[in-house]
Amino acid sequence: QEVRVFAPATVANMICGFDILGFAVDYPGDEVCMRKVEVPGVRIIAIHGDEGRLPLDPDKNTVSACVKMLLEHLQIADQIGVEIELTKHMPIGSGLGSSSASTVAGLFAANALLGNPLSKAELMPFCVEGERLACGHGHADNVAPALMGGITLIRGYEPLDMIELPVPDDLVAGIVFPQVDVPTRDARQLIKEKVLLRDAVTQWGNIAGLVAGLYRNDYELISRSMQDVLIEPTRAILIPEFYTMKDIALSCGVLAFGISGSGPSVVAISKGKKAAQEAVDKIQAHLTAHGIESLQFVSSVNVAGP
Ligand code: HSE
Repeated sequence: QEVRVFAPATVANMICGFDILGFAVDYPGDEVCMRKVEVPGVRIIAIHGDEGRLPLDPDKNTVSACVKMLLEHLQIADQIGVEIELTKHMPIGSGLGSSSASTVAGLFAANALLGNPLSKAELMPFCVEGERLACGHGHADNVAPALMGGITLIRGYEPLDMIELPVPDDLVAGIVFPQVDVPTRDARQLIKEKVLLRDAVTQWGNIAGLVAGLYRNDYELISRSMQDVLIEPTRAILIPEFYTMKDIALSCGVLAFGISGSGPSVVAISKGKKAAQEAVDKIQAHLTAHGIESLQFVSSVNVAGP
């Protein structure tokens, strides 16, 4: 028995909703091929596309560690044997939910091989543990959209309360990954623990406005709500040319521009593909002129999970 599962990259935070909002894109993403074998235990037999950066040790690799957790929870760890082949189609440390896509693909594959004993919602806590292993913090704003597709809201963490939000049909994300490494762990340490009430009011107004805009299909409201006064000013310093990229994107008529997850990828949101495509092309040209290599991805936000 063998299953092959693709889980999508994700844009966490959705610019204004740090740790609580995220959406999936249709590419890139990671793929897990998993097969059942006679000998009990979880083994990683190959990892492709990671340039040798990820551990093959099943206790250290987040995919296998999460699958083990799932098998232990189901009390079948000593009976079931699985072999995992992981293919990464996206860069590590890019701000596109790379570890989340792998973890989600692995847990979804294991659950499928076992005949789906758990629902997607029941798989979520294992996905969150994967994030904790990967970066030291169990945020759910990458794994939730990677598993459910579309746009998800994490209303609360204790207990985990995940809500799927409507996705306006024409919402498109243009992503540019400037090829510098920004580990999520480091990007989180940088953020201030305390915020000003004034800024918090602005931010929760924006989050509420964005959610209302999604329900109303109101692109103008979405546009003026997708702004981040809390996190972006601090993290922007880790991203080369951030404010110039923002000016370029906004001059192309995108609805909003900001950091994807913990960066260094940036995201331009537009109504229809044209403005996002133009923005990422111009941003890439600008980065190239400054000696910075980059990758671009343009995708609908209306994407299904695995
Ligand atoms: N919400 C998380 C952060 C996402 O911004 O640190 C990390 O991908």
